[in-house]
Amino acid sequence: MKHTQTMFMSTENALKKVLDYHQQTKHHFQRYASGPDGLDWKNQPKAFRTFDGCTRLKLPLLIHPTSVSYNQLYQPQNIVSQELSINNIGQFLELSLGLSAWKQYDDTRWALRCNPSSGNLHPTESYIITENCDGISDGVYHYVSRDHVLEKRCQFNTKKSLLPDSSFLMGLSSIHWREAWKYGERAFRYCQLDAGHAVASIRYAAATLGWNAHILTSASDVDVATILGLDRDDDFVITEDEYPDLMLLIITQSNNLFSDPCLISSVPVNEIAKTAQTGQWSGQANTLSTNHLDDWPIIADTALACMKPETDEQTWQISVYPEPILESGSTQPASTLIKQRRSAQAFDTSGYLDKPLVTKSMLYRMLDLTLFRQTIPPCDVMSWEPRLHLLIFIHQVEGLESGLYLFLRTDEIKKKFQASLKQDFEWLKPEDCPEHLQLFRLVAGDAREAAKTLSCHQEIASDGALSFGMLAEYKDCLTDKPWVYRQLYWEAGMIGQVLYLEAESIGLRGTGIGCYFDDGVHNLIGINEGEHTFQSLYHFTIGKALVDNRLQTLPPYAHLQRSHFK
Ligand SMILES: Cc1cc2nc3c(=O)[nH]c(=O)nc-3n(C[C@H](O)[C@H](O)[C@H](O)COP(=O)(O)O)c2cc1C
Repeated sequence: MKHTQTMFMSTENALKKVLDYHQQTKHHFQRYASGPDGLDWKNQPKAFRTFDGCTRLKLPLLIHPTSVSYNQLYQPQNIVSQELSINNIGQFLELSLGLSAWKQYDDTRWALRCNPSSGNLHPTESYIITENCDGISDGVYHYVSRDHVLEKRCQFNTKKSLLPDSSFLMGLSSIHWREAWKYGERAFRYCQLDAGHAVASIRYAAATLGWNAHILTSASDVDVATILGLDRDDDFVITEDEYPDLMLLIITQSNNLFSDPCLISSVPVNEIAKTAQTGQWSGQANTLSTNHLDDWPIIADTALACMKPETDEQTWQISVYPEPILESGSTQPASTLIKQRRSAQAFDTSGYLDKPLVTKSMLYRMLDLTLFRQTIPPCDVMSWEPRLHLLIFIHQVEGLESGLYLFLRTDEIKKKFQASLKQDFEWLKPEDCPEHLQLFRLVAGDAREAAKTLSCHQEIASDGALSFGMLAEYKDCLTDKPWVYRQLYWEAGMIGQVLYLEAESIGLRGTGIGCYFDDGVHNLIGINEGEHTFQSLYHFTIGKALVDNRLQTLPPYAHLQRSHFK
């Protein structure tokens, strides 16, 4: 069984494989990470996974959007919890991983979803495991976003209750092939970033219903794979298998999850896995590509090297911050912003110097919302201490001098950064920056050229108001726990999702940037090649989008007949 092979790899070997993978998949100025020479369009993976032979359950579509505003998502205590029912699960899935539009150019049409994805390839698959849900019989279901249906993969052979009251599980997996088809060896990183975006999308969608979500961090990947049926090798085409990402507990009747942390540890993941093993499974995964010209074996090797065993999770000293900064937040319905989220392909630079698009208070707010607060989405979904920090290329933010800045997401990390980065950096905190935000100017100046060059020469990194690099505390976090490599990317993806929605909420647009020159970024701030204290794992940019009028935008679910739904 492929998902258990990791048992035979020592942690030392696994760590080496992960570190080697990271090194090998860096883009360099002179050479990009290995990928296909050209795209094999004939074998482009199908955009949607389905399981033939499963019973399909149609979910209702959101007819009356929830009235919860975007700003309210950050005040969850003010949102009334909705019951666990098929209608609400329908809303939850539609707003988390559902379609947000179709785009059309000539005869080509492609779907966009609430969660973004590198190259729009969407390697992330999702499953729910329900118990006592009005309208959905107990079992394991795969979600097909195109059809907004649940495919019943497994019927458990037990009536025993396994989940906390009014809760359900949501599992995510990645089909690495989907990304590898286009991006080659670097694809494993993109799958993890996409999973992070998906987690944050899920957490935001849960918040629209007054629900809570939490990653079951102690669970082993083998158990997650068993529960989701990913270890059923005969159900999948061999090179298109799904790797377990993570399992989330979604709690519908509690805004107060953290007053009862036992709830999370009370989920009997092992027992659910055993129950799944003896359940009645149905369905055969569709074939995504007829042929694979390259399968990039380093991806499967790395995936095995960072498979997670069951762990005891440590608590950490959680920083106490003031209430989130909510001034100037959008009062538009959250569902509107979630569905209109898109990536900008180019930014409008006309009038660039007239009036800055972003004010410093907007920037302070978006940084503030990336902090970990126990009950505030989306970062509260994590159960580990934040390990990602933001390098910011400020091009044009009203009230702040242009330059390179650093935003630290934990209190204690400043000294380590000061020891690692260039010694002549200023470390100047903007005068009126809120006390709890550790934002520092490192060097003043025009950062546009650097931002563009380092993001694989992409103009979106220089033409907006600001762009970001995401610096992870790296090697120390991985020692003894190579699987944390994946969690680092998830956290980066989650921050990306905050920035996407924040950009929309101020009438701008963001874009995740997976293509950047790794060591180029490190050199800029004084981290030598081969030094692994911090590594940049993701980039992001925000600006005023140029709309491509050649593209037609079509509604997400016009292809489904509404009469089928309640
Ligand atoms: C992890 C990740 C990496 C991405 N990298 C790039 C990039 O380097 N350049 C770019 O123009 N867009 C990039 N994107 C944006 C995607 O192309 C975009 O999300 C996708 O086409 C889907 O469109 P949507 O975000 O409008 O739904 C990235 C998105 C993600 C999530």
